[in-house]
Amino acid sequence: MTESLRELADKNGFILGAAAVPKAVETEPTYAETLSSQFNCLVAENCMKAQFLQPAPGQFDFKEADKLVSFAEANGMKLRGHTLIWHNQIPHWLKVDMSRAQAMDHMRNHIFGVMEHFKGKVFAWDVVNEVLEDTFFSYREKSRWYELIGSDYVELAFKWARQADPDCKLFYNDYDLEAVDEKFDATMKLLHDLQDRNIPFDGVGFQFHSTAEHVLSMGKDEKFAARCERVQRELGLEVQITEMDLCLSSNPDDAELALQAQTYAHILRLALEAENCTALLTWGFTDKHSWIPTFHKGKYGHALLFDNKYQPKPAVAAMAEVLENIHCSNPIIS
Ligand code: XIL
Repeated sequence: MTESLRELADKNGFILGAAAVPKAVETEPTYAETLSSQFNCLVAENCMKAQFLQPAPGQFDFKEADKLVSFAEANGMKLRGHTLIWHNQIPHWLKVDMSRAQAMDHMRNHIFGVMEHFKGKVFAWDVVNEVLEDTFFSYREKSRWYELIGSDYVELAFKWARQADPDCKLFYNDYDLEAVDEKFDATMKLLHDLQDRNIPFDGVGFQFHSTAEHVLSMGKDEKFAARCERVQRELGLEVQITEMDLCLSSNPDDAELALQAQTYAHILRLALEAENCTALLTWGFTDKHSWIPTFHKGKYGHALLFDNKYQPKPAVAAMAEVLENIHCSNPIIS
């Protein structure tokens, strides 16, 4: 029998993960089986976001998230944390008027409450997510955290995260970092500024949501490799691909599936070869449970590695071949 992606990733010391939802883990045996046999890491697609973890001020609800913790533990998988401070999926109570000091208290309590709960279980947290906006690449002002606290919410979040769990890796996470030059440059400037002022953090998360046909045609692959190198050289930090998916049309033909396979495999190869890239996570793993069709209103779909019946798509064999043949430059699973 051929080896699973997980067996090959384990041998290579590379973290290969996927986003998961507790309900499917509980109710669909094939979902649970595929997740644990093909991946050595998971991340919560939604249930570790602030809206769900702190539904009322000071009242945490870890029930759903803990189901994923138990699943990861039972199956010897690593767990990524996503996400502490983001402008989307925030609790309702954060939308009311409050002072800067009150908002800072809430942020501190959220970070401490969540990170202390998952201490020793989550190895890396996306501390801040999608901080910059898409036109001028300055701070996203339509973020409740920015509105209430100001731009220093970012450094406060990292400082408190380090205090809450000093052993956890702290990530800055965003989309289009492999795609949009101005966004990556603005991100690097922000990260340099944080680092110059001794704000603690360990890595940069490249979400890597893309349309399959755009990765190679727009040179996102070369940009990704060059940007890993720049993050290493200038900042000495880790990179992880945190939310990869590669959309196809709503009814893809064999050529589209082949391009998707080639692209997944190529990016995995670049991730293995990069000196500082330690993980690749996809945003789900089966087309049955993927945010893409809803997000793109049906125009795109089929973005993940397994089809909606949990059958491996061509990308699985292509990635297995890469894991077999390319040695990870920076193995962190032993
Ligand atoms: C998405 C989830 O996949 C959806 O189910 C949810 O409705 C909205 O959020 N960038 C991120 C993720 O950092 O948290 C988002 O996840 C996708 C884009």
